[in-house]
Amino acid sequence: MYTNILNPFIKLYWRFVMSGLTLAYQGKDMTLLNVGYATMGDEGLSLLGNEEKEKLDKYRIQLYHKIVIENGQVDNMEGKTLLETGCGRGGGLNYLAEKLKPQYAIGVDMTASQLDFCKRNWSQKLNFLQGDSEFLSQTVPKATIDSLVDIESSFFYPDKTAFLREVREVLKEDGTFYYGTLLPYWQVNQLHNLLTRWFQVEHEEDITANVVRSLKQDSKATANFIDQHYPWFMRWILKQSWGIEGTLVHWLISNRYIQYKTFVLKKKQVFAK
Ligand SMILES: C[S@@+](CC[C@H](N)C(=O)[O-])C[C@H]1O[C@@H](n2cnc3c(N)ncnc32)[C@H](O)[C@@H]1O
Repeated sequence: MYTNILNPFIKLYWRFVMSGLTLAYQGKDMTLLNVGYATMGDEGLSLLGNEEKEKLDKYRIQLYHKIVIENGQVDNMEGKTLLETGCGRGGGLNYLAEKLKPQYAIGVDMTASQLDFCKRNWSQKLNFLQGDSEFLSQTVPKATIDSLVDIESSFFYPDKTAFLREVREVLKEDGTFYYGTLLPYWQVNQLHNLLTRWFQVEHEEDITANVVRSLKQDSKATANFIDQHYPWFMRWILKQSWGIEGTLVHWLISNRYIQYKTFVLKKKQVFAK
């Protein structure tokens, strides 16, 4: 059985960092907290429409487009339920809801300040619940979700086995899980084994090179944004977390010590022990 007595402290630390990040800047132009995705040609934004290309978050929005819409080959979710775990400031869920028009779109996050931001900015069309992804079925009824998205949040869940078990619990029998995560190279096989035990892989792709390109294209804008809007003592951790050029995290991703894996997964019918 998985036990890790440090888990509550790890979560408390990240909750503190995530709260600070959102409380210190409430502007609606920065709605996503991920490393982004760049396509390989031209300016690297070929998946987006002209309106999105103007946004500060363009590469970060494009990551959602890539993992759900392109990899999942989905163009509408009418009549369906869409859930995002670790929804952060809600910009990704809002983008997917606008494009795919699900009947219900629900964001779950453990950090109260992120949810307050989400409710203030998106609550007319989206629903938000405070909850822990490792105990998802305590927040969301079992077998009610058609599509579940988790993008760059599971990195913060110490017990990934618990998370994946909970994803299975809340998904309907024919539900789909769209998953994107950064992880150290030595955990890649372990994650793969865990996923294939419980899910059928419909699509799997390593997008590390596209993430490196996104970080290179966007580093200047993101660094300027952090310098303008955050106090000096937060800038170092934020630049590291975003993988801006010149940081250790950027070097680790560029050299594939940390990799970006994406999956489209279906529930396996029989639960393998
Ligand atoms: C790096 S942000 C990514 C947010 C969003 N997916 C995006 O791309 O902008 C990670 C998010 O996961 C949330 N989070 C971390 N651990 C969590 C947990 N155990 N349960 C629910 N949310 C969690 C954090 O509060 C944060 O909003």
